[in-house]
Amino acid sequence: MNTPTPFSSELNQKIESFRSHASPIKLGAISFSSKLLLAPMAGICNIPYRLLMEDLGAGGTVSELISCHGINYGNQRTLEMLKIHPLEKNVGIQLFGEDAESMARAAEVAESYGPKFLDINMGCPVTKVVSKGGGSALLKEIQNLAPLFEKMRSKMKLPLSIKIRTGWDANTLNAQEVLKIAHESGIEWVAIHGRTRTQQYTGLANWEYIENLNEVKKLPLIGNGDLHHPFGVSERLQKTNCDALMLARGALRNPFIFLESLDPEYASLKRSTFLGKDYWEVIQRLYEYTTQTFSEERTVLVQLRKLIVWFAAGFPHAASFRSQIFGCPVLEDCMKISEDYFLSLGESQKFINYDEVFMSSGHG
Ligand SMILES: Cc1cc2nc3c(=O)[nH]c(=O)nc-3n(C[C@H](O)[C@H](O)[C@H](O)COP(=O)(O)O)c2cc1C
Repeated sequence: MNTPTPFSSELNQKIESFRSHASPIKLGAISFSSKLLLAPMAGICNIPYRLLMEDLGAGGTVSELISCHGINYGNQRTLEMLKIHPLEKNVGIQLFGEDAESMARAAEVAESYGPKFLDINMGCPVTKVVSKGGGSALLKEIQNLAPLFEKMRSKMKLPLSIKIRTGWDANTLNAQEVLKIAHESGIEWVAIHGRTRTQQYTGLANWEYIENLNEVKKLPLIGNGDLHHPFGVSERLQKTNCDALMLARGALRNPFIFLESLDPEYASLKRSTFLGKDYWEVIQRLYEYTTQTFSEERTVLVQLRKLIVWFAAGFPHAASFRSQIFGCPVLEDCMKISEDYFLSLGESQKFINYDEVFMSSGHG
């Protein structure tokens, strides 16, 4: 992949002025350029999106969850998902599976693709994963965790992290025990989504529980859940005891969230300095990354369309733009429609109703 076409000097200046507020953070052996990291998202956190989010201030990124069995069987589609781009700075590969032997074998393969760290998915609530004992089901049998972590560690050189939920259900909140085992078994840091498996994506992330964990933890902790707008992220960033925060869904409707959350004064104004023309520049960069990553036009179209439509969320006439984009089967036409739309927005601000549920399913 070539280095991307530079952003305009106006957009670059905006980006750099926000970046100057970022505080780098060291988690275990790895230095991240900001405390705000991109959370793993299946079907979304591929090379183009991860690169774009790093360009727009994410201190680090994680791949979507990747099956250890797919890797061990040499499944071509799974192996494709392991690929890392040389321009990516702080990227981890997330593995899922249930047994120590298969996870350790897959970890060896994943390491050879050049990530900075590996992560274990211990939060996926999806029945297909949980019924086999993977994802959040790992939180149910915590006696199996030390052997799993130690087996993987014995085969790996890179740092190993885990991403968990608060527990299986409200009666078994056991993140504290999991953290203790993780600390004793060579895990480098823990990311926690503040919901139980039973909650799936309902209710609210339990930030009180996350913050209390910080009283007892011996490992760096990354808090995650419901940080969807710059004001909320910035408030949490100022008061949290967590070492870092992870953002998932917030970055889908606002690709500038990593930057805009860094300056508390700015975030409190709840007005964005990023306008339609900036979104259009970002979409062009995403287009470059996506066309260089995927050779099939259909794949590029599918990948780009959903992100472009999310980026438009909250802008005037977003609903009719969305139907135009989804009704358009030709990539270049989609880009033209997007250019016309985003450039027509002028000084318009986004208005998103954050009380409405957005994307209430996922793999962690
Ligand atoms: C579409 C989607 C896909 C997800 N895929 C993964 C995944 O592959 N691995 C994982 O650990 N978490 C996954 N998650 C969970 C997110 O990383 C995050 O924990 C969750 O969405 C809560 O954070 P948020 O409120 O900032 O979105 C996914 C979430 C969504 C919405």
